[in-house]
Amino acid sequence: MDPFLQYFDGTLCFGDKKRPLTNFVGTYSGPVYVYDLGSIGIRVKQMKRALPTADLYYAMKANSNLDVLSAIKKYGCGVDVVSLGEIHRALEAGFVPSDIVFSGVAKTEKEISQALDLSIHQFNIESIPELLRVARLAKENDLVAPVALRLNPNIDIKTHPFIATGLHENKFGMELSLLPQIEKVLKDNSASLSLVGISLHLGSQMLEFSGFRQALQLLVPIYQRLQLSYPNLRNFDIGGGLGIYYQEMDLQKENSLLREYAEVVKDELGKINARVQSEPGRWLVAHSGVLLTQIQYVKETTLKSFLVMDSGMNHLLRPALYDAYHSIIPLFHNSGRPIKLYDVVGPICESSDFFAKDRKLPEIREGEFLIIADAGAYGFSMASQYNLQELPKEVCI
Ligand SMILES: Cc1ncc(COP(=O)(O)O)c(C=O)c1O
Repeated sequence: MDPFLQYFDGTLCFGDKKRPLTNFVGTYSGPVYVYDLGSIGIRVKQMKRALPTADLYYAMKANSNLDVLSAIKKYGCGVDVVSLGEIHRALEAGFVPSDIVFSGVAKTEKEISQALDLSIHQFNIESIPELLRVARLAKENDLVAPVALRLNPNIDIKTHPFIATGLHENKFGMELSLLPQIEKVLKDNSASLSLVGISLHLGSQMLEFSGFRQALQLLVPIYQRLQLSYPNLRNFDIGGGLGIYYQEMDLQKENSLLREYAEVVKDELGKINARVQSEPGRWLVAHSGVLLTQIQYVKETTLKSFLVMDSGMNHLLRPALYDAYHSIIPLFHNSGRPIKLYDVVGPICESSDFFAKDRKLPEIREGEFLIIADAGAYGFSMASQYNLQELPKEVCI
């Protein structure tokens, strides 16, 4: 059983301090994401301990809830953002501009200009046209842009194709063969561009690290060669991507995964003259969030038993988008009931609107509640109002 979610006296309790999730039933007026800030703090500490020389820039796209962000700031992280909206949210949460790394492939003139004005820590540059645009805007405003080159080493980390970002077929980063052209732009614009880093992000949900190691081995000599010509080059940004176990949640296994990852970083970057930056998202927040949802109908057909929920792909897109697995747990322990096979589906007019198919659960009745586990990352932040359904609420404990 998931150590973040355990039954006590038949009631499901959640988080660091094992608070009963039944507390949210009395006031229930629709699906709600519940986040446990204490367990996020524990994860940050664990990652800092494993990567003692790295600075963490939390990838806000995983969960941009204001209280979650303020807690992460308090725990001593910076933040990785991909839009002006995320920059504003970071500032609102208490981050300062020097805490901000700006990633993303489509930075607009407005976004770049505002980030330059704020004097953020680093722009992770995804293409030569973007580098030229940043140079022009910095020059027009008499500023110097701190840039890091996001390099695409064409390495497969064996994750779902929709979250792989380090292959040449992906839109992210710049191919290594472009380095001569990139360097020409840097030289031509040396008054407005300061090369402060190189960066990579190979994708998300990495559960083995041979590709990650290979990418670091490829980039280290490039970094060292560039350092000879660019005296401000100090940051080696290793991106995010450390995976978690959704299906068989096992904290010990996850901690050894973290150690293995940290070992690769230490082996490959431990001896070079670099300030290591990491951009974790999922690993810090996924287990610390659950989605509480209510069964509207139990619908039996000749082939299936459907649990029709008041929440679906509009609130948690991952199953529809990546066929992702999330544990589903009844709020109250129903040990006396027979086990049945259910499709757990939402209200949206799409057949891809499901949380699970053919999932074994104790028999469930209309009006009862289910918890969708491990929904703290890429949950609310990907939610939509499709079909003009309301967004879920968010509560922190
Ligand atoms: C540039 C960048 N950094 C970091 C992350 C965070 O990845 P994860 O949540 O897998 O740690 C992402 C996620 O897509 C990303 O695009």
